[in-house]
Amino acid sequence: MSDHESSPLPEIDLSKPPAENMVRVTFEPENKTVEFVYDTMPYDGHGLPMSFLDVAENYDIFLDHACGGVCACTTCHLWIKAGENGISEPEDKELDRMETAADIQLNSRLGCQCVIEKPGTYVAEIPSWNKNYVQEGKPATVKK
Ligand code: FES
Repeated sequence: MSDHESSPLPEIDLSKPPAENMVRVTFEPENKTVEFVYDTMPYDGHGLPMSFLDVAENYDIFLDHACGGVCACTTCHLWIKAGENGISEPEDKELDRMETAADIQLNSRLGCQCVIEKPGTYVAEIPSWNKNYVQEGKPATVKK
């Protein structure tokens, strides 16, 4: 659980770039933007620390993570649309897992493995559908 869960996201002036040493992350398509001082966000226990999943969990932004953030599914699949120079390189296990993901693009990453490594502006799009979402029988696919 995070301190942010019960409160609305704070207002951010998007007309200005983030201040030095700040991280600004926008999750599309909902356009939810969060901002925090680099290296101060508490670890929420899902995915790698400072991963996009960790950020989403800290701010109560829904990013599916069926395996709990251990690189064993692809439900956290994201397209990184800005900030690619500030993120970690994918490890072999992420690349192997991504081969099973739907709708792979050059900017595809797993949200639980892709770590923000420096201050800056980041934009990640959450695909509107997901192969594993169907495979793993989430409620939307269960018929009685
Ligand atoms: Fe399963 Fe990221 S949550 S691979």
